[in-house]
Amino acid sequence: AAERTFIAIKPDGVQRGIVGEIISRFERKGFKLVGLKQLIPSQSLAEQHYAVHKERPFFSTLVNFITSGPVVAMVWEGEGVILSARKLIGATNPLQSEPGTIRGDLAIDIGRNIIHGSDGPETALSEIALWFEVSEVTDWIPSD
Ligand code: CMP
Repeated sequence: AAERTFIAIKPDGVQRGIVGEIISRFERKGFKLVGLKQLIPSQSLAEQHYAVHKERPFFSTLVNFITSGPVVAMVWEGEGVILSARKLIGATNPLQSEPGTIRGDLAIDIGRNIIHGSDGPETALSEIALWFEVSEVTDWIPSD
């Protein structure tokens, strides 16, 4: 199977009504949407998702924020999608993200940076497995 990555639109992105705008950017780039759902993450899901940040001073802020409302969780597929998605998303701190990127165009606050994308192949696999059941990811063949 082609490479896959986990992408989540955080509660601020949903609240601001920019879900369509964000999905559009991935579609227009040419990636394939193979998983999509909206949920309010449980405390446990959020803590597992952010486990690598457990010792950081902002860990509880992070968990509180991601569980504060609906998140749009997605799996995107395509050649080089993990790195390419990171480029589409832009730097973690929106004040340093380049214009043209999602965060560069649409955000200013590091704690409210609207979107998450897996940072590498191992993380992509573990995050997809954490957020999605196997049956919730649908492969499909684009017609030409
Ligand atoms: P994300 O890609 O979801 O992964 C970790 C998150 O931590 C990151 O996006 C930021 O939203 C958040 N983060 C990083 N640094 C800070 C900080 N100093 N204060 C609050 N949140 C932060």
